[in-house]
Amino acid sequence: MFLLTILYFIGVCASQDLPSLRLVNLLYRHGDRSPVESYPTNPITENDWPQGYGQLTKEGMREHYQLGQFYREYYKTFLNASYDRFQISVRSSNLDRCLLSAECHLAGLYPPTDTFLPNVTWQPVPIHTVPEKNDSVLALQAPCPAYDKAYDDILHSDIVKEEEKRNKDFYIFVGEKTGLGHENISNIWPVADTLYCESRHNFSLPSWVNSSIINKLRTLESFSFTLMYNTTLLQRLKGGPLLKVMLENMNNKINRINGTLDAERARMYMYSAHDTTVAALLSALGVFNDISPPYAASVILELHEDPANTYYVKVFYNNGSQPMLLTVPGCSEKCPFEKFVQLTSNVIPDNWAKECGVQDAAAVILQFSLLMFGILVGGFVIITVLFVIIAIKCTRKSPRTKYSLVAQEDIN
Ligand SMILES: *[C@@H]1O[C@H](CO)[C@@H](O)[C@H](O)[C@H]1NC(C)=O
Ligand SMILES: *[C@@H]1O[C@H](CO)[C@@H](O)[C@H](O)[C@H]1NC(C)=O
Ligand SMILES: *[C@@H]1O[C@H](CO)[C@@H](O)[C@H](O)[C@H]1NC(C)=O
Ligand SMILES: *[C@@H]1O[C@H](CO)[C@@H](O)[C@H](O)[C@H]1NC(C)=O
Ligand SMILES: *[C@@H]1O[C@H](CO)[C@@H](O)[C@H](O)[C@H]1NC(C)=O
Repeated sequence: MFLLTILYFIGVCASQDLPSLRLVNLLYRHGDRSPVESYPTNPITENDWPQGYGQLTKEGMREHYQLGQFYREYYKTFLNASYDRFQISVRSSNLDRCLLSAECHLAGLYPPTDTFLPNVTWQPVPIHTVPEKNDSVLALQAPCPAYDKAYDDILHSDIVKEEEKRNKDFYIFVGEKTGLGHENISNIWPVADTLYCESRHNFSLPSWVNSSIINKLRTLESFSFTLMYNTTLLQRLKGGPLLKVMLENMNNKINRINGTLDAERARMYMYSAHDTTVAALLSALGVFNDISPPYAASVILELHEDPANTYYVKVFYNNGSQPMLLTVPGCSEKCPFEKFVQLTSNVIPDNWAKECGVQDAAAVILQFSLLMFGILVGGFVIITVLFVIIAIKCTRKSPRTKYSLVAQEDIN
């Protein structure tokens, strides 16, 4: 036990060198939640969950409060003990479970040092978000037809056909028991996730469900996560946007450019999101372990500066008790920043919306403005030309009118 403790501390010290640390990018999945949906024969209904489907549970709140406490200790000489708005910026996916996770996490990270009411031991910290349908960075719900097409190709690939053949009996069994009918890797997730949530919360499950069924479903769920980001294109369109933001945060720090935070004082960018976000980022970095990310799993990209003033990046995955140092393929544990940028360049979208086959709002507004401008200028030109033509016609007509008048007079 004593030896283990020593090994533990050596492990922590070996992976942490705070004096050289300059910036932390921290992404985490929300904590324990209720199922997001159900299946037709499920005896457990939405009403059996205190806040309904897809919501952070008390357990999930605890998980993130404790994770916040863990990072408070882990980064205690790096992050101010009291909240300093110049040091940290927090962004969350716009789902309640992610927003609540961030709140609980921050409550653990910043135990109040100067309370605004003696009995309220809470330090408020702002959390930013954008609507899901516009969020290509955290919620990953912004429409991306190119991704959908490429993912659909994967679902019809030989790897998946082979897998469906292998698990045919299991899919038929689950399809019958759940009342869902045809089951396959693309729609096994709701069953796997719902049963997992219910088992974690000690509901008594239907008799066809035992632990080996749950495990089998979990394995298939993990496989479905692997498929989601299985190619460079899929990684680029889903994990790329967040990685791009993190690279920008680090680049701003290195080159003293003010971004969301003031460059000099910036210490941490925190992101609260989903298992899909964690898997997408890890996949884009080439370090995904092909296991569906557990609740409150976190990915850390640390920027360090060595005494020679060169910068390097360390990548960690914390899916349990502490961050594990990972190595990006083709680099070392301390990956020089330039090399890190170069190694990840193929998964960083240049123009995400364009690559997805959608137009971003700014482009649409610009086009609309150009169109309106065109119409105005065109209209002006047409009116001017018409005016000139009419004017010419009138000046030519006047003498003729006179002639005809003269002619008429002649007749009379
Ligand atoms: C703090 O809590 C105690 C005990 O609940 C109560 O008696 C006291 O009035 C509270 N003080 C304030 C400032 O709310
Ligand atoms: C999986 O099942 C769904 C629902 O029946 C179906 O729409 C989809 O095409 C199937 N996917 C594949 C790859 O067979
Ligand atoms: C489920 O039961 C286990 C074992 O009794 C317990 O440790 C755990 O806290 C329970 N989980 C919930 C969410 O109540
Ligand atoms: C895609 O998934 C298959 C099956 O798990 C795996 O063999 C292959 O290495 C994966 N490719 C990438 C680029 O992740
Ligand atoms: C965490 O990651 C390690 C290394 O990839 C893996 O062995 C372990 O099973 C993972 N644990 C969970 C809970 O995902």
